[in-house]
Amino acid sequence: MKRLQLTDVAHAYALDKVLAGIDLALPAGRILALVGPSGCGKTTLLHLCAGLLTLQTGTLENRYTRPAVMFQQPRLLPWKTTRDNIALGLKAAGLPRAEWQMRAQAMGHAVGLDADALEQFPHQLSGGMQSRAALARALVLEPDLLLMDEPFAALDIGLKAQLHRLLLEHQAARGVAVLMITHDLMEAVRLADAILVMAPDPGRIVHRFELAAPAATRDDDFVHRTTAGFLHDADVRACFGLEALAATALQCADHGFAKLGAGGAAQAGENVIGLARPATRKGLAC
Ligand SMILES: Nc1ncnc2c1ncn2[C@@H]1O[C@H](COP(=O)(O)OP(=O)(O)O)[C@@H](O)[C@H]1O
Ligand SMILES: [Mg+2]
Repeated sequence: MKRLQLTDVAHAYALDKVLAGIDLALPAGRILALVGPSGCGKTTLLHLCAGLLTLQTGTLENRYTRPAVMFQQPRLLPWKTTRDNIALGLKAAGLPRAEWQMRAQAMGHAVGLDADALEQFPHQLSGGMQSRAALARALVLEPDLLLMDEPFAALDIGLKAQLHRLLLEHQAARGVAVLMITHDLMEAVRLADAILVMAPDPGRIVHRFELAAPAATRDDDFVHRTTAGFLHDADVRACFGLEALAATALQCADHGFAKLGAGGAAQAGENVIGLARPATRKGLAC
């Protein structure tokens, strides 16, 4: 059976130990999200899975045969048109010209790139269009394993939602397994079947969440409620630096700052959205 399985994987750059005791399994057709703060080793882990880094410690078994990687930056070749960029892997696989042209064009259209955009060069495309092209370049290979490194991090919220939908449609139609790295917990809750939360120094998995509801059925309300629920977990809060933030807020309150709510001074029981010096009550003074 197709499966990616890591057992007790560790990694170090020279003497700097960045990953320790990583266990994860990704069966066919599942979306696994890996979330964690910057620098906790997410990219290193993805590169190990992609075979871009040599495994140092532990075992890594990859039974997928058609992996594709989507990097954080689109990494389009500036001297090639969008269509030729999308077709790179197909050309490398030796497909006849007519076929790679047709497939690249069809996938370009599927991700929302029109005929003009497909003839343009990367510098003529917006950031969002470049991301679509990078997604198309990965999907056109019909991968059975898709490894994505914060692929939508730089996009605004509407475009992110569009590309999420495209990914889910493709995933549902083809049953591709996805390992997706993100530091956006809401994105993970929207897309993933399971979420692994990492903490740094060294990078390790500190929490696992399973999401039973199919991704296609999750609406904004579900995503917001579920994310808020996860943020109550102490490991998750610590991993995103939220405990430190809460401590700072308490300290500020102890030092005579006023708590601000939506309409000025916070009422009892109201969510506190900021702190201000009592003399001005204008700004966030911390
Ligand atoms: N090629 C490298 N050589 C040395 N240190 C590296 C290299 N790549 C990443 N690191 C370090 O390893 C740690 C984890 O990096 P990375 O895997 O990129 O984390 P993340 O993707 O979670 O931000 C960081 O401290 C980073 O500076
Ligand atoms: Mg990274």
